Amino acid sequence: MVKLHPLKSPNRLKLGVFSANADGGLAITDVPERWQAGWQDNLTAAQIADRAGLEFVLPIARWKGFGGKNKVREWSFETFTWAAALGAATEQIGLFMTVHVPLVHPLYAAKALATVDHISQGRAGLNIVCGWNPKEFGMFGVPLVEKGYDQAAEWLDIVERLYASDQPFDHDGTYYTMKDAVSSPASLQTPRPVTMNAAFGGPGRDFAAAQCDYLFTTFSEIADAGRHVVDIGERAQKAGRDVGVYTVAHVVCRETMEEARAYYDRYAVTQADRAAVDAHMAGKKEFSQSHDSHAYDRYRQRFAGGAGTYPLIGTPESIAAEMVAIADQGYQGIALSFVNYTQELPYFCDRVLPLLKAAGYRG
Ligand SMILES: Cc1cc2nc3c(=O)[nH]c(=O)nc-3n(C[C@H](O)[C@H](O)[C@H](O)COP(=O)(O)O)c2cc1C
Repeated sequence: MVKLHPLKSPNRLKLGVFSANADGGLAITDVPERWQAGWQDNLTAAQIADRAGLEFVLPIARWKGFGGKNKVREWSFETFTWAAALGAATEQIGLFMTVHVPLVHPLYAAKALATVDHISQGRAGLNIVCGWNPKEFGMFGVPLVEKGYDQAAEWLDIVERLYASDQPFDHDGTYYTMKDAVSSPASLQTPRPVTMNAAFGGPGRDFAAAQCDYLFTTFSEIADAGRHVVDIGERAQKAGRDVGVYTVAHVVCRETMEEARAYYDRYAVTQADRAAVDAHMAGKKEFSQSHDSHAYDRYRQRFAGGAGTYPLIGTPESIAAEMVAIADQGYQGIALSFVNYTQELPYFCDRVLPLLKAAGYRG
């Protein structure tokens, strides 16, 4: 029997694991325990998260690395096949696939996504990205599209139509021309698997508001993070819809604040892979708007620590308190990265999850 997707659970704050499919996770560091993203480690991390009752694993979609000493992110697992394998090896966790609209045809995506939804008995999730890195797009011979979200709108319409129709149909759109199109089976979830759009800027928010279930986005400071939720809420309201907001953070959770801060400084300052941090920040600054503009000047450590995401650095108590504050700003979920997922997830799950439960944010 197909159960309710984990993202629809009553937990007020959903939690998941982000970017374990890619070298370094979200970190850009040269510490020896850095995440190498081998398959066995991916499997172990997903199974730890599954057993602990986290709601989702969410991969990054990366095709090329950022150079530096370790060619960080160059090694990454493709996300449909990764999710399919994890679907067969886990019991209850949601399995996202992160898909570049301009690089993957919607008919292929519909079929692959439905395959994972069947393997996992309704636990598949789609994370749509329009992409930002011209070096990655160059490998496909595809230019970065200016109006990516127009294409995303047509792309997602096609996926939904493929699932909804039992008859072949022709499609003659701006970006796609299709003749006698079918894709069977449809996903088990209807009208399609849960869908988020990873974006920060206005057009991405409008696309999420009009067509997705969730926006996956960043913020710089917790006190100020609620404005993004309000903004997407207003956009969704105009579209007559309800859209949840998820965010992302990197975690160092230790017994004492001193230990956590010392480790954060070690991996994300002293032993940061500096050349790769420079390349990553320069590329993101030039080609993407996935962060507040001042983030690049203020937060170099955050880019080494977790690709510019929010740092949750501290004790189980301080991290649980910050997570509660993030939820209170209106966020429904947080995707988490660690320097080494298999080494750090057990402590995090053992120590932080009970505090969130006691606070009433998770069951
Ligand atoms: C939380 C988050 C996660 C993202 N994940 C990816 C990813 O996995 N691969 C990718 O190429 N781009 C990713 N992006 C970048 C988006 O695809 C997009 O190019 C970028 O956010 C700039 O466009 P925007 O102004 O619409 O946000 C992500 C963006 C955000 C905010």
